[in-house]
Amino acid sequence: MTQKYFSQLNYTLGNEDTAIDIEIVRRLKSESIFNVAGCGSRSFPLLANDSIKHLSMGDVSPYQLALCRLREALYKECNFQEFLLFFDFPPYHGQDNRRKRKEIFTRLILNESDRSFFRGLFNEINWGSLLYLGKWEKTFQKLSLALQTLLGKEKETLFNFDYVDEQRNYFFNRFPQKKWKALLFVLGNKSVFNALLYKGDFIKKNVPGTHFQYYKESFENLFANNLARESFFAHLCFFGKIIHSDGNPIEAVEENFLKVKESLQSVVKPNYIEGNLLEKLSEDFYTESFDYLGLSDVPSYLSGPDEKNLLNNLNQCLKKGGVICLRNYLRVPETKTGGFEDITGEFSDLFLYEKVGVYRFQLFKKI
Ligand SMILES: C[S@@+](CC[C@H](N)C(=O)[O-])C[C@H]1O[C@@H](n2cnc3c(N)ncnc32)[C@H](O)[C@@H]1O
Repeated sequence: MTQKYFSQLNYTLGNEDTAIDIEIVRRLKSESIFNVAGCGSRSFPLLANDSIKHLSMGDVSPYQLALCRLREALYKECNFQEFLLFFDFPPYHGQDNRRKRKEIFTRLILNESDRSFFRGLFNEINWGSLLYLGKWEKTFQKLSLALQTLLGKEKETLFNFDYVDEQRNYFFNRFPQKKWKALLFVLGNKSVFNALLYKGDFIKKNVPGTHFQYYKESFENLFANNLARESFFAHLCFFGKIIHSDGNPIEAVEENFLKVKESLQSVVKPNYIEGNLLEKLSEDFYTESFDYLGLSDVPSYLSGPDEKNLLNNLNQCLKKGGVICLRNYLRVPETKTGGFEDITGEFSDLFLYEKVGVYRFQLFKKI
C-alpha cells in the first residue's frame, strides 16, 4: 500500500500541553498572535482568550497547514461530540467511527486542494482516525510497545491515582524504577530518535547533563506534579494512545472547544503563512504586526547566525512590549538578547504543570 498521503504529516495530535500557552496569553492579554502551526492543536485553543483579534499560523510544511485548516473547518462545522468522534478522542476511541467521520467530512468547508489531500489520506487509511498518524505520534507508539512489554500490567497502576501526592509516593517508592530507567536509557537518546524520526536532524543538545538525565528529570517533574491520567503524553507513552477522557488535551475539553468555536465564527479569521518563519516575519509586510510570537521548540533546531540573531531577526515584526515564547527542548538557543527583557520568571509558577514536561520555557519582551 502506498503511503502517498499520510507520510507527509509530522504531527497530528501534537506534543505540547497548550493549556500553559492559553494562560500565558491570558495574562499578557495578547491581541495579535503569530504561532508556529504544527498540527493546529497548539494554536486554536489559544482563542479561548477573547483578547485575541488576530491569529497567524506559520509552518514550513504545507501539509501541517492543511491539517490546521481541517481543524478550523471542524471547529466551525461540528458540535463538541462530533469533534471528539472525528479524531477518535475518548470516549469515542474504542468504536468504529468511519461512517460518521465520512459524513462529517462531506459537510466541511474546505478548499479543493485540502479536500483532495484529506480525501486521499482518509481513503488510504479507510476513514480511520488521523490522530496518531503523524511521524512523531507513530514514533511514540513504537516506543510505547517497548514500555508495555517491559512493565506489563504494572503500566496501569500509575494511572489509577486521583491525588498527586499519592501518585508521587508510588512513583518514587513502588514503581519499577530499574526497568523504567533502563527504558529511558535505551530509548531516550540521540541515535534512537535519529533512527526512528529525525533522520540526522535531531536537536544538538546544549543543556547540561546527558539525554538520559534530561528525560529522567522531565518525567519525574511530570509525575511529581501532575496526575499521569490527565497527561495525554503519558497516555501515549504508556498505552500508545489516549485511553480515557481525563487524558484528553485541552483542544478536546468542551469549555475550550466552545470558546474557540465562537471566536472562529464571529471574531478571528485565521491567517496561514507557509515558509520559514525567520524569512517570512522579516518581511516589511509584518512590521510591528504582532504582540505575541509562540515559536514552540523551532529555535532549538537552529544553529549558527539564525540562532545567534534569532531575537534580532524577530524584533521588527513585534509591537513594542510584544512577547516571544520559546518552548526549548534539549537546546536553549544561544541568541543575542539585546532589545529584549527576559520575563520568564513572571510565568515560572506555570511550567511544572505543563503535562508533557520536556520543554524549558523562555519568554522575552521587546523593550
Ligand atoms: C518541532 S515542531 C513543533 C510541533 C508542535 N510541538 C506541535 O505540537 O504541533 C515545529 C513545527 O514547526 C515547523 N517548523 C520547523 N522549523 C520551522 C521554521 N523555520 N519556520 C516555520 N515552521 C517551522 C515544523 O514543520 C513543525 O510543524
